[in-house]
Amino acid sequence: MSKQRWGSRLGVILAVAGSAVGLGNFLRFPGVAANNGGGAFMIPYFISFFLLGLPLMWIEWTIGRFGGGFGHSTAPGVFDTMWQKNRFVKYFGVMGIFGPVVIFSYYIYVESWLLGYSVFALIGRYADCTDLESMRAFLTGYQSLAGTEHFPAGTAYLFFIITFAINIIVLSFGISRGIERCCKWGLPLLLVIAIILVIRVLTLGTPDPARPENNVLKGLGFLWNPQWAALKKPEVWLAAAGQIFFTLSVGFGVILTYASYLRRNDDVALSGLTAAATNEMAEVVLGGSLVIPAAFAFFGAAGIQSIADQNIFDLGFLTMPLILGQMAYGQIFGFLWFFLLFIAGVTSSISLAQPAIAFMEDEFNLTRREAAVLFAVVTFLLCQPVIFFLGNGVLGEMDFWGTTVCLVVFATIEVILFGWVFGIDRAWTELHAGSDIRIPRIYRFIIKYITPLMLLTILATWIFNDWKKQLLLEGVEEANRPYILITRVGLLGLFVFLLLMVRIVWRRRPEATCPETDQ
Ligand code: TRP
Repeated sequence: MSKQRWGSRLGVILAVAGSAVGLGNFLRFPGVAANNGGGAFMIPYFISFFLLGLPLMWIEWTIGRFGGGFGHSTAPGVFDTMWQKNRFVKYFGVMGIFGPVVIFSYYIYVESWLLGYSVFALIGRYADCTDLESMRAFLTGYQSLAGTEHFPAGTAYLFFIITFAINIIVLSFGISRGIERCCKWGLPLLLVIAIILVIRVLTLGTPDPARPENNVLKGLGFLWNPQWAALKKPEVWLAAAGQIFFTLSVGFGVILTYASYLRRNDDVALSGLTAAATNEMAEVVLGGSLVIPAAFAFFGAAGIQSIADQNIFDLGFLTMPLILGQMAYGQIFGFLWFFLLFIAGVTSSISLAQPAIAFMEDEFNLTRREAAVLFAVVTFLLCQPVIFFLGNGVLGEMDFWGTTVCLVVFATIEVILFGWVFGIDRAWTELHAGSDIRIPRIYRFIIKYITPLMLLTILATWIFNDWKKQLLLEGVEEANRPYILITRVGLLGLFVFLLLMVRIVWRRRPEATCPETDQ
């Protein structure tokens, strides 16, 4: 079967940027930043970007294109070609399929709320919620599947089905006609909407004249005035590194899959940099100028932190609609906000699906349609516990395995494979093959020593500090334990299943693989 390709260079950059720009930029970032003291967060954040995020972005683009040359689009095959003498490394690659599938299964449900809320904003459904409490009650009413005063039964489920279907349809059109086309429209649209909203927020001024200290400018100051003392706090560093991974979509095997559809001599150095820079612009410039200044102007420094403390998504999900709802044309602005988030979500969730789909196409020779259908069946089932047992901590458990565990381990393996096994000299040459820029040489050193050291430190800190707490479910309510344990067993089952698949595939495979020739 001939390999799929991106239609254009701009297309692949927009697709990677579309994957990166997501709920992380507009919802998670303000929440995490507020939670970690605003200006205290931004220094570790930028350092993590340059020392972890950007190197991993380049690594994933490079090894993805490299593996793609051998007909592999997913991590097991890519790792295997990078370290052909080692029989086990391909099994570590399973995390690069498993992690994204798990994240997909809850991300898509959150994404569907945004579609629901876009509609609610437009028709004024939550207009009578005028404070945080009633907004929260509205959200929990929506999430509970039984009918409530606001919603007939199954409302949330209906939006979930629509969102799920949109994703599967895009995916079934494949790389260039599906994903690329979706991102070529989606990303520019999203940026335009974000700019409109930023202008509206920045012209809010001082909403309550009785409290002049609560204004937009002070809100920007909250985020941007550096607080050096926070550099000493490890938890701020962990939060910053976690946000960088999540927002750039690196360290999961997703970008790697996208990059495998490049040709041998397509540039990766400049494209990777452009995609990363686009994401950062969307995150700190646009994402940073929406929720934080708006919420600050209305709730002040203390308010914003206490809201974010409850749940990092609450700032964007509950306070934004409240604030926007009070303005002239509030319904339109509310719609724009949720629709922006929805588009950002779609261009990200399709990227989470692609590794699993690519694995079935490459290794089992399924057609694109067959692979998309099979993927739909499996993830549809996985979504059900997330939807029905949302209140029992299932989503949190999946997030823990998907984004915390798999991510750090996978990224560490990736970086060591690249800088040490593949070898930094070869890696550097590979990274620059066909490239339009030369990366500063300091990055040779960073990729070889600094990035792996930082990752190992994060891993070690995490193992010493919380792994026991999380593994043994300390602090979890008795009633929720069965749900979480069943989720865990189910995830383990999926992981073992994928390991077996890799084993079967490699058993059938003829020993030596040689690069495909490309015109
Ligand atoms: N980066 C996306 C966001 O900011 C989320 C996302 C998409 C993602 N693909 C990913 C996260 C892969 C981790 C791995 O919302």
